[in-house]
Amino acid sequence: MKPTSLLLLFLAIAVPASLTLAGDVPNKIHPLRPQVGSGGHHIPGVSCQSWRLAVETDNIKDWDVVPMVCENYVGNYMLGHQYRKDCNAAGWAAYDYAKGLTLKKDGKDVWIFDIDETALSNLPYYARPDNAFGAKEYNETTFKEWELEGKAPAVPAILYLYKRLLKLGFKIVFISGKSESLRSITVYNMKKVGYHTWEKLILKQTSESGTTAMVYKSKKRKELEEAGYRILGNMGDQWSDLMGSHVGNRTFKVPNPMFYIA
Ligand SMILES: *[C@@H]1O[C@H](CO)[C@@H](O)[C@H](O)[C@H]1NC(C)=O
Ligand SMILES: *[C@@H]1O[C@H](CO)[C@@H](O)[C@H](O)[C@H]1NC(C)=O
Repeated sequence: MKPTSLLLLFLAIAVPASLTLAGDVPNKIHPLRPQVGSGGHHIPGVSCQSWRLAVETDNIKDWDVVPMVCENYVGNYMLGHQYRKDCNAAGWAAYDYAKGLTLKKDGKDVWIFDIDETALSNLPYYARPDNAFGAKEYNETTFKEWELEGKAPAVPAILYLYKRLLKLGFKIVFISGKSESLRSITVYNMKKVGYHTWEKLILKQTSESGTTAMVYKSKKRKELEEAGYRILGNMGDQWSDLMGSHVGNRTFKVPNPMFYIA
């Protein structure tokens, strides 16, 4: 049976039932449109859900801050189960792909990770009222102070993937837009939460500070390939981690509805 005829059959059964049981709630006859705010009812959170989907798919680009109306929505998403589940889904998809590859095991099979909001989470910082999960303007000063504390936790799904990739024989390369001046605190933080080894940890030099993340990261990946590395997987929370050139055989997007980096 075609889906449309199934729907008609369903409505034929559902309409009389809803009339007798809840004649004053006409939306009950739309079983395929549950809770989406159709029929004139405003369901809180729905427009923010659409906004999140649009930023995750890169349909909305170059956005500055989280829309004020979505501050609570993004906060609930980040602190609740869904963000963790979405990270797990990305991690498992990546592992599923990685375990199917036949590695050359010559030390040149590479997996790239971004650091902020990928390997490490700055959620304790973004959850502060003056940052409001990205609904307030980025503050370079307070973010740097937070980075210098070296207290960012790992994103659990990514740490787990990292360990599994090492077991499979991948070499790990971290490419971050963090400044080279933060190397020692970054290394300290990474090791403290469980990232204990890597092939390279690439940070942004002062001479590169004017370049966008996409240009900078493409250049770093090009240098890796020129050095004989094969980039089999590449994972980051920003599209600028995953687009540009030399992106690798497959890319994996980690969710992040809190900020956008070009
Ligand atoms: C950043 O935060 C500090 C401390 O709250 C504040 O003094 C400063 O004005 C803020 N800077 C910007 C650009 O908002
Ligand atoms: C990765 O992509 C390159 C270039 O398309 C291809 O030659 C290579 O076979 C791919 N490697 C794997 C393991 O799929």
